[in-house]
Amino acid sequence: RLIVAAGCALAMMTGSVQAADWKDIRIAFDVPYEPFEYKTPDGELTGFEVELAEAMCEELKAKCEFVIQSWDGMIPGLLARKFDLIMSSMSITPERAERVLFSEPYYNTPGGWFARNDFNTDVTDKAAMKGKVVGVQRGTTMDTYVTEELSGVVTVKRYTTADDMVLDLEGQRLDVVFVDYPVGEQTVMSKEGFKEVGTPVKLGEGVGVAMRKRDKDLAGKVNAALKKLKNDGTYDAIMKKYFTY
Ligand code: ARG
Repeated sequence: RLIVAAGCALAMMTGSVQAADWKDIRIAFDVPYEPFEYKTPDGELTGFEVELAEAMCEELKAKCEFVIQSWDGMIPGLLARKFDLIMSSMSITPERAERVLFSEPYYNTPGGWFARNDFNTDVTDKAAMKGKVVGVQRGTTMDTYVTEELSGVVTVKRYTTADDMVLDLEGQRLDVVFVDYPVGEQTVMSKEGFKEVGTPVKLGEGVGVAMRKRDKDLAGKVNAALKKLKNDGTYDAIMKKYFTY
């Protein structure tokens, strides 16, 4: 689905411009990941990062195409030039920074633990957690964390999409999920019978826009646009719409 952000008419009127001018930008999202990026019941792509991307494209006077990409293919897809930017709540980590270029962070999200109300185990108590089944989205910072900290203790179930993971928690195939805090808050806690357990864990140095390393010119534009949106209140207005804390 091609979504042309407002403000793109200008780029279209001035005629086609070379790709190096960044007047055509393709941005990848992994959905559903509410409130970051998800589809409305009518199938419309929306969310904090979708609106932030629209505002950014308007600021850059770029014609943007939004691409749906599964999480496990995000960095490979970027490097293969399937799209130019990742705006999918990708946390800034040293490992990823070896492969991609990150913008300045535009959000902070720790990992949060969520379970059914009948779960009464301390997630930080390894002995008590022995044999529990923990769900994570494959290839996320939460996956890395449980793999490093809890391997041999819990059974880790890895999911391609966050919604399948939440379904398995509801269906009692998981004891607990470990997911970006706002996602757990809005997709798990919003349902009857679930609660947050333990304390959120800081993972990564905030969330950034990811780009190919060679696209330093694009990174400059992205950072300038984000700064402008933060200064003029646009960023705060979008954030308030999607985050409850
Ligand atoms: N913040 C986490 C990470 O960087 C998970 C992001 C998953 N994003 C998504 N749209 N599914 O690994």
